[in-house]
Amino acid sequence: MSESPQETKGRRQVVKFSFYHVDPAWRGLPEEERERGKRALGDVVRAFSDRVQIRSYSLVGTRGDADLLLWQICDRLDDIHQLAGFINGTPMGPYLTMPYSYVAMTRPSVYVGRNEARAERMVLHPRDSKYLFVYPFVKTREWYRLPLDHRQTMMDEHIRIGRKYPSVKLNTTYSFGLDDQEFVVSFESDEPADFLDLVMELREARTSLYTLRDTPIFSCLAMSLDEALDSLARALLTFRQVRTASCTTRATKSRYSTWMESFTPSAIDVHMPTARWATALRRMAR
Ligand code: HEM
Repeated sequence: MSESPQETKGRRQVVKFSFYHVDPAWRGLPEEERERGKRALGDVVRAFSDRVQIRSYSLVGTRGDADLLLWQICDRLDDIHQLAGFINGTPMGPYLTMPYSYVAMTRPSVYVGRNEARAERMVLHPRDSKYLFVYPFVKTREWYRLPLDHRQTMMDEHIRIGRKYPSVKLNTTYSFGLDDQEFVVSFESDEPADFLDLVMELREARTSLYTLRDTPIFSCLAMSLDEALDSLARALLTFRQVRTASCTTRATKSRYSTWMESFTPSAIDVHMPTARWATALRRMAR
């Protein structure tokens, strides 16, 4: 069965995945206000960097309900708590919600015995990969009723398949009792296709019979916090600039700007097809 408390002693890390959604109204704020918010958020993250390892990812374009992931690794749950409060206290706070939040910890694996593998599981060493794939994971209760040697055989198959994909680095973390899921598994890779193939192959492994839930799934792009925040508003800025620049006369430009300002920021549809913009602009210029 599982290890005794004695066997899981040693340095354990708290691992937190905070997925933020940024209210679209933030994108419509004047640039200086957005910059102020971004600077304050960056200052908070830097202020905690001696206690919390924080890695930032953008989900712009890969998910509809979350924009930013802050992956946090530290020694104390209290630091996660404090960091969240300070982030809420920045000028960006009123525009932030956290639709997904996962708390986990490191612990030695039940299925990997070697000492170095155990040590690896206790302290995470993230790579600088381009992508991170994150899932909350729940196994069926039936799994835990199986004899350990039976589970071990199935996990050996799982691990054998996993090792066929060295471009994918795993970070298994455990949430039992701390949060709604049992595990949070996260995988770093530069090759999304390798990850897709790996997951497809694992579906045919016997352990897959005992998966109760492995969604939602997050495909995250690694970047600095500044870049991740810029990626939220980049489309709108570029679009405005391009469109404003494409109005040749001063009169058209000013009518165009007035027309743009008549929209509430959140109502500006950045995905409006170019043909519709062109028609609207032509009508204005008449
Ligand atoms: C790089 C590919 C992979 C490798 C090398 C690999 C290897 C391993 C190893 C060695 C363990 C033992 C426990 C531990 O690490 O703490 C494990 C556990 C686990 N893996 Fe994987 N794995 C891979 C991919 C995946 C994927 C894609 C998923 C989910 C879709 C997954 C889900 C899990 C879960 C939930 C556990 C915990 C099992 C338990 O303790 O009952 N793994 N894996």
